Amino acid sequence: MKTRITELFDIQHPIIQGGMHFVGFAEMAAAVSEAGGLGIITALTQRTPELLRAEIAKARTMTSKPIGVNLTFLPATTPPDYPGYIDALIDGGVKIVETAGNNPQKWLPLLKENGIKVIHKCTAVRHALKAEAIGCDAVSVDGFECGGHPGEDDVPNMILLPRAADELKIPFVASGGMADARSLVAVLAMGAQGMNMGTRFMATKEAPVHDNVKQALVAASELDTRLIMRPLRNTERVLNNAAVERLLETEKAMGDKIEFKDILGEVAGVYPRIMQNGELDAGAWSCGMVAGLIYDIPTVKELIDRIMSEAEAIIRGRLMGVL
Ligand SMILES: Cc1cc2nc3c(=O)[nH]c(=O)nc-3n(C[C@H](O)[C@H](O)[C@H](O)COP(=O)(O)O)c2cc1C
Repeated sequence: MKTRITELFDIQHPIIQGGMHFVGFAEMAAAVSEAGGLGIITALTQRTPELLRAEIAKARTMTSKPIGVNLTFLPATTPPDYPGYIDALIDGGVKIVETAGNNPQKWLPLLKENGIKVIHKCTAVRHALKAEAIGCDAVSVDGFECGGHPGEDDVPNMILLPRAADELKIPFVASGGMADARSLVAVLAMGAQGMNMGTRFMATKEAPVHDNVKQALVAASELDTRLIMRPLRNTERVLNNAAVERLLETEKAMGDKIEFKDILGEVAGVYPRIMQNGELDAGAWSCGMVAGLIYDIPTVKELIDRIMSEAEAIIRGRLMGVL
């Protein structure tokens, strides 16, 4: 398959692995890139720019294919050392950056001067248009189904993707709810040039997370995610568990008066315990509705090869057959 996204990023298949906190390590990114997709290392999971530098170097020993780095811009009282992280990825020869969260405009000149292509992840057409206007090369359009932060507009991909196609000139990939060949063919039909997956890639052999996490994804259905932090306008889709139920009770009890500090126990610093130790109830962790479509734990290559061969079969068989 050749699309504007495979051309832009010089990859074989139009499949991207989105940045994932405490999942997007070298092992994950390299496995996806080596299988012909675009793997992405999550910068902020590395505590310092020096550690990011080492993680990129490690990925380089695992694949010579393009890899990307995710830079998530969050509102924070003490912002992370973004200039340091950007220096580290430039020095590491990274040529693709996935930005997410706040508007990346401030950092674009530096990235562009260094020949880096930028794909911005956003959850609204107006944000995608802004990304296009400020010079991003592509966008990742993240629907309401997605794991992580779906924004506050609640527009599912069935509407969001054709809307994006109607407005954008730069290429975009569909993100949120993508699991298999059916996802890929459907979003190509809606005008996307490929797809971005998060949750599905967590349930692969190479994903550097505890087996409990992978088994939980196989066991979960499409009914098992919850939206947290809605009253704080920082909505996150997570897998339901004891901590999430406690958090939702707190939200209900405190109403509009809730502050971030009231739910700190359920969200702050919980990722290492969940992803590395497999303590699934240690706190809230991002997961998409797509968990309902995850039935197995293949290798990344098996997953990507299966998606590509089944996509071809759908296009040549089922779709041609209906004409
Ligand atoms: C465990 C987990 C952690 C994530 N962490 C980040 C992150 O740090 N930065 C980011 O931009 N997106 C993050 N995401 C969102 C993904 O990059 C991707 O946009 C999303 O998972 C797509 O939806 P899907 O899960 O339905 O595939 C995370 C998603 C998951 C499941």
